[in-house]
Amino acid sequence: MKFPEAPNPTLPGKFITFEGIDGAGKSSHVDWLADWLRSRGLSVRVTREPGGTELGEKLRGLLLNEEMHLETETLLMFAARREHLAKLIEPALAAGEWVICDRFSDATYAYQGGGRGLDRHKLQVLEQWVHGHRQPDLTLVFDLPLEVARERIALANRHLDRFEQERAEFHQRVRLAYLERARLHPERMHVINSDRVIEAIRKELEQIVSSI
Ligand code: TYD
Repeated sequence: MKFPEAPNPTLPGKFITFEGIDGAGKSSHVDWLADWLRSRGLSVRVTREPGGTELGEKLRGLLLNEEMHLETETLLMFAARREHLAKLIEPALAAGEWVICDRFSDATYAYQGGGRGLDRHKLQVLEQWVHGHRQPDLTLVFDLPLEVARERIALANRHLDRFEQERAEFHQRVRLAYLERARLHPERMHVINSDRVIEAIRKELEQIVSSI
């Protein structure tokens, strides 16, 4: 006799991260994907970086608004990440929950590395220190031409944070760094052409996520 499959709390959950330049529209897909996974009976946690914990959200306030040395910025990103992994990400995955995180370490490689020019080796040391044992199971990189992203940000007509206020060349370097990183890690990173109607993007997301 065959019984229906019950959720297995001993099976670890999957860790999915969303990435892309500002204005690529990733955040609107985060909640949609969480609902889609929940409709398939999975337990899902949605979180973000910098942030995700009480302390992390305080660090986010500083990171998005205060001028600081590039290495201070980078260390604070990883400090917030350490807290996030310890308090939320690792316990949730261990309990069998899926975790969807709006940005993670690929953002540090793209923004502090690509955008601001921090030495990649320093990033590798910090990454190894903070989560050498853990990488996302899947990373979705939302990509679109810079001009389209800039237009979307301008249309939103809201206060821009320190990163959004950066010049176009900065965002171009961030974009190229994301694409280069996706080329180096094809086993987990997928580039999604974000310059399409939302239905086409969601269809592709369904296909990619089903594969894991
Ligand atoms: P973002 O996801 O864009 O927040 P929102 O959608 O509310 O604007 O993240 C905030 C900014 O933080 C974004 O411009 C990129 C930046 N950032 C880094 O520079 N490095 C990092 O490691 C992370 C996680 C984010």
